Amino acid sequence: MRFAWNHQVGIILRTGVLLLVAGLLLCPSNAAAQHRHVSLLPASSRPARVAPGPEVFENVSRRPGVVEVNLVATPAVIDLVPGAPSAAYAYNGRVPGPRLELREGDQVTVHFRNELPDTTTVHWHGLHLPVTSDGSPFHPVAPGGEYTFEFTVRPGSAGTYWYHPHPHHRTGVQVAKGLYGAVIVRAADDPIAHLPEKLLILSDNRIRDDGSVDLPDRLTPSWRIDQENGREGDLLFVNGEVGPTLTIRSGEIQRWRIINASAARMYRLALPGHTFLHVGSDGGLFERPVERDEILITGAERVEVLVSGSGAPGSETALQALPYDRYIPQTRPADWESTRVLATLRYSNDPPMVPPPVPDRLRPIPELDTLDATATRVMVLTQGMINGRMMDMERVDVEASLGATEIWQVENLVGMDHPFHLHGFQFQVIDRNGVPEPFRSWKDVVNVPEHETVRFIVRYDDYPGKWMFHCHILDHEDHGMMGVLEVR
Ligand code: C2O
Ligand code: CU
Ligand code: CU
Repeated sequence: MRFAWNHQVGIILRTGVLLLVAGLLLCPSNAAAQHRHVSLLPASSRPARVAPGPEVFENVSRRPGVVEVNLVATPAVIDLVPGAPSAAYAYNGRVPGPRLELREGDQVTVHFRNELPDTTTVHWHGLHLPVTSDGSPFHPVAPGGEYTFEFTVRPGSAGTYWYHPHPHHRTGVQVAKGLYGAVIVRAADDPIAHLPEKLLILSDNRIRDDGSVDLPDRLTPSWRIDQENGREGDLLFVNGEVGPTLTIRSGEIQRWRIINASAARMYRLALPGHTFLHVGSDGGLFERPVERDEILITGAERVEVLVSGSGAPGSETALQALPYDRYIPQTRPADWESTRVLATLRYSNDPPMVPPPVPDRLRPIPELDTLDATATRVMVLTQGMINGRMMDMERVDVEASLGATEIWQVENLVGMDHPFHLHGFQFQVIDRNGVPEPFRSWKDVVNVPEHETVRFIVRYDDYPGKWMFHCHILDHEDHGMMGVLEVR
């Protein structure tokens, strides 16, 4: 079968290959280097090679408590898989984009420039901020356009977040091409700040043999499957690398922040021979750690876990994604039952160290009281729709008052999981299928498994405006499985 060949992509790719070859010839040390070759292609002019920016955003402000960064989205030729240049999109020349490091109380300014040939936005997923800085489809940035995001990091919001594009109907494509990055918010009184930390951004992709990102043409069979399941890829990435090796010392306790930046794939995480101490979710730490054998992380969710180095020096184990059946039978992938390896965890040869203390109380989480709720919003999920409707930018689906506390009852009527996301406000899950949630946590995405009902409670604090809610399977969101909450 021949794929329709986009002429421009062909040129970009061929140029990329030439540049890559030239790069290899001109600087032989590159051949051995692990680093990706990156060429930034300004939308209109000739391709030019530009080195990727730093891994962490450079703060251009010297004032204490102020974070000011520059962010540019560009087309780029990047080896998404080693040795095969792909016509991708990159934030500051990187896939994933640079990490944004913030502290509670920081005043943040992001100067964004869109050098893509495509309208985009930058959504700060999970952060509680003014609506004009939310980067929702209501604030598109045209090709060549600029936008300034400004917000103050709220006290109590320490946690793991991420940023990604959110243009109407085009989120999935732009994330697939490489646009996603992490945001970490730190607290001054973090009870586990003494533990060494790792960040793991999970994503998956499909890359064709010619290096192009496999985005099927509309109405083809694979497009239909992507529409149904959400687009999954056989290549699994951790921080943009396939199967990286993580290291730990025997006896050490590490804090892992894990972000699921995949369009649709859900990961049932396990580490054979180890248990996880689950300490946090989307909106930061729990009140107490919870021990688990496995953790399901659905689209856009985050988890914080402590990994205890209980293995012997020199030994190895794998961070696995166990099979998880979120599919309807008609489009369930043939290999859904296979266990996949995300990364190798290798023990150093150092002798075991004495494990550091881990507090059994992390922080208090104030309870949102259901007695304060003034409304219950029922959201009925079917395939591609919420309450039987598709997204309409001109329509407001829910009107609420600033400061009000409300319950959302999300009912999934179909045989497929849908991770439900609300912008702007962290919520607390009350119950799932009537079973009370065992402990409190701050969430902005909750998976609603097939034929289940989840209730959560939320208070619309501080920021009026039009906020999105949607399924975070990006193909479903792009199709219109999204609505608008207006807080005034
Ligand atoms: Cu992570 Cu509306 O998005
Ligand atoms: Cu969001
Ligand atoms: Cu969905």
